[in-house]
Amino acid sequence: MDNQRRKVLFVYYTFTKQTGMVVDAMAEELTARGCDVTKAALEFPDAHYGGRFSKLPMPWPIWHIVTMLVPQRRRKTGEIGIPPEAQRGDYALVVFGSPTWWLTTCMPVRSYLHSPAAKAVLDGKPFAAVSVSRRYYKGNLGDIEKLGEQAGGTWVGGTRFVSDGNQVMSMASWLVFMRKNEPRRHYFGVPLPRPNLKEDYAEQAKSYARELADKVFGSAAIGAATSSPVV
Ligand SMILES: Cc1cc2nc3c(=O)[nH]c(=O)nc-3n(C[C@H](O)[C@H](O)[C@H](O)COP(=O)(O)O)c2cc1C
Repeated sequence: MDNQRRKVLFVYYTFTKQTGMVVDAMAEELTARGCDVTKAALEFPDAHYGGRFSKLPMPWPIWHIVTMLVPQRRRKTGEIGIPPEAQRGDYALVVFGSPTWWLTTCMPVRSYLHSPAAKAVLDGKPFAAVSVSRRYYKGNLGDIEKLGEQAGGTWVGGTRFVSDGNQVMSMASWLVFMRKNEPRRHYFGVPLPRPNLKEDYAEQAKSYARELADKVFGSAAIGAATSSPVV
C-alpha cells in the first residue's frame, strides 16, 4: 500500500486544547508509521454561539456553559470555518476529534458533519472518532457515527479520553480551570483532581492510533511502510 493510500485527515475542534493534544499525539504516531497526516482544526466564528469560545480564561464559565445546554440538546448547528484540507481530498481515513458538550458532539464538529465538505471528504471512506470530555462520551461518539454515516462514510470505531476524579470533584476542578485557564490542584484548601486529560493520555492516544492503523490499513502494510522511505 503506497503513501497516497495512507492519507489520514484529522478534523477536530478544540477550545481548551485537550482534543488538540490528543490529535497531536495520534498524528505523531501515525506519521511515525508511514502515514501522510493532515490536521484540520475547525474554527467557530458563529455570531451567536462562537464568541464565548474565543478566549480563555472564560469569564463566568457557568453562565456560558449553561446557555449552551438548549442548543446542544436540540442538536443545533452554527457557522464554522473549515480549512481547505477538510473541504475536499482523497483520504484513506478520516478521524474526528470532538469534546463532549452537553452529552453530545460539540456544535462545530456537528456543523461540519452536516456540511457539503463532510460529504465530499467522507464519500465511501472509513472514519473514526475520539471523544474528549470530563466524563461523558457515548452520546458524542454515537452522534459522530450517525452523522458521518449519513454523510457517506463507513464507521470503523471510536475511543474516549476522560478526566480523573469523581463526578463532583472533576466538575469542580474543570470549572476552576475554565475560570483561571490553568490547572489548580487546590481551591480554597480543597484538593482537586487533574482538570483535563489524564497523565497517560499520550500513550493512550498512540496506542489507539496503532489499533486504528492496523484495523484500516492492516498491520503488515503499516509495518512495511515504516521500513521504506517516506517522501
Ligand atoms: C459547553 C460545554 C459543555 C460541556 N458538557 C460536557 C458534558 O456534558 N460532559 C462532559 O463530560 N464534559 C463536558 N464538557 C467538558 C469538555 O468536554 C472538556 O472540558 C473537554 O476536555 C474540552 O475539550 P477541548 O479542550 O478540546 O475544548 C463541556 C464543556 C463545554 C465547554
